[in-house]
This record gives sequence, structure tokens and C-alpha cells, in this order.
Amino acid sequence: MAEFDAAKLSWQDQYKLMIGTVTPRPIALVTTLGRNGPNAAPFSFFNAVGSDPAMLMFSVGDKSGGAKDTVRNIRETPEFVVHIVSDAIKEKMNVCAVDYPYGVNEIEKAGFTAAPSRKVRPPRIAEAPVAMECRLMQIVDLGRKPYHVVFGEVVYFHYHDGIVNERFHVDAGRINPIGRLAGKGGYTRITDRFEMSRLPMEGVPSTD
Ligand SMILES: Cc1cc2nc3c(=O)[nH]c(=O)nc-3n(C[C@H](O)[C@H](O)[C@H](O)COP(=O)(O)O)c2cc1C
Repeated sequence: MAEFDAAKLSWQDQYKLMIGTVTPRPIALVTTLGRNGPNAAPFSFFNAVGSDPAMLMFSVGDKSGGAKDTVRNIRETPEFVVHIVSDAIKEKMNVCAVDYPYGVNEIEKAGFTAAPSRKVRPPRIAEAPVAMECRLMQIVDLGRKPYHVVFGEVVYFHYHDGIVNERFHVDAGRINPIGRLAGKGGYTRITDRFEMSRLPMEGVPSTD
């Protein structure tokens, strides 16, 4: 057994434990709009949090100079677009993670194509297999760094052809997302899938 009292660990060591332990993490590539134009950046502290309405969250730590551009922009324009990072766009996503000065358009830097969104002002990235237009619900500031946990309501979904069927079933294999592991180069694909049905409780139908 290895045991650690979190109170005795530096933030760096807690960070290493967290990103190495909670894996694989999906990656949100988030576009926002500020007074100096659009911005794109990836975040793997990311997940869906509910479905009535459809809601998701991602968590942004401060950089040394203060809030990252994504949070700064969402405070100015409380809307954003979350894209799922597929294997096909991973290198371009990586360009968007470079800490460019405020106002640099990572969508252009990465060679992505900006397309207009339907219900929000920030543009979406045409090459991403899935784009979810979101309106800000709440930003919750947590911890000492601090982290800004951004909650959004999905108001419009975009899918490339062949990913979602008429019954709203999504073929994750066709999204071909990558997941984040720990370290500088740690990623994974979903190429080793298996199925496991929920067990019904005797006499009680399963709810999903
Ligand atoms: C795969 C990946 C996942 C990342 N996840 C996070 C994250 O969850 N939270 C965070 O604050 N930064 C994360 N980063 C770092 C940001 O993308 C990076 O700081 C970026 O420059 C922020 O851009 P912005 O200042 O334009 O918002 C991640 C980087 C990569 C490559």
C-alpha cells in the first residue's frame, strides 16, 4: 500500500497524483470570444454533469499572470463552444495549448477552420467531429490556485455525418476521441471496447 496525507503534499505532487489517477480524461477543446477576438484551448478536467438541460463542466487553473484567456473571455462573453478532441485533430489541439499572449487566435494558429455558431457568438471549429454550443451557467472558483470551474448549458449540438442516428444514439467509435493520461505525452484511444450490461434488480426494471 502507498498512502499519502494530502495535507502534507505540495500542490505539484497532488497535481501529479490527480492527473495520473483519474484517467483517461476526455478533452474539451473550448472556443471563446473576447474583445480581442476568438480563442481556443484544451481542458481535460472536463466532463458531462447532467442532461435536463444538457450540462457540462471544465476546470481552468490560473496561470502565473492571472486568469487564462478562456476564463477571461467567458467573463466578457458568457458563451463558449466545447469540441470533442478526436485522433484526427490531436496535433492541432496541441497547438491550441501553447500559452500564446492574450488576443492571439489559436484557431488560426492551429490551422483550424472557424465556422459560425448557431446560438452563441464564439465560432466553432469545423474539423472537430462534435461541437456543443454552450451558455455559461456558473463559474465556481475553488481552491488555492484557484481553479475556475465553468458550468455550461448545451444549447446546440453539431455532429459530423454518420456519428449520431435518428434515435440520438452516438457512435463513439466514429468520434474516435482521444483521452488524456498523465505526463507530457500521455494520451489514449478507445480502440479496446467491450460491453457489460447493467444487472436488473430482481423484479425492478433497470432505469437506463
Ligand atoms: C490535453 C491538455 C489538457 C489540458 N487540460 C487543462 C485543464 O484541465 N485545465 C487547465 O487549466 N489547463 C489545461 N491545459 C493547459 C491549457 O490548455 C493551456 O494553459 C492553454 O494555454 C490555456 O489557454 P488560454 O490561456 O488561451 O485559455 C491542458 C493542456 C492540454 C494539452
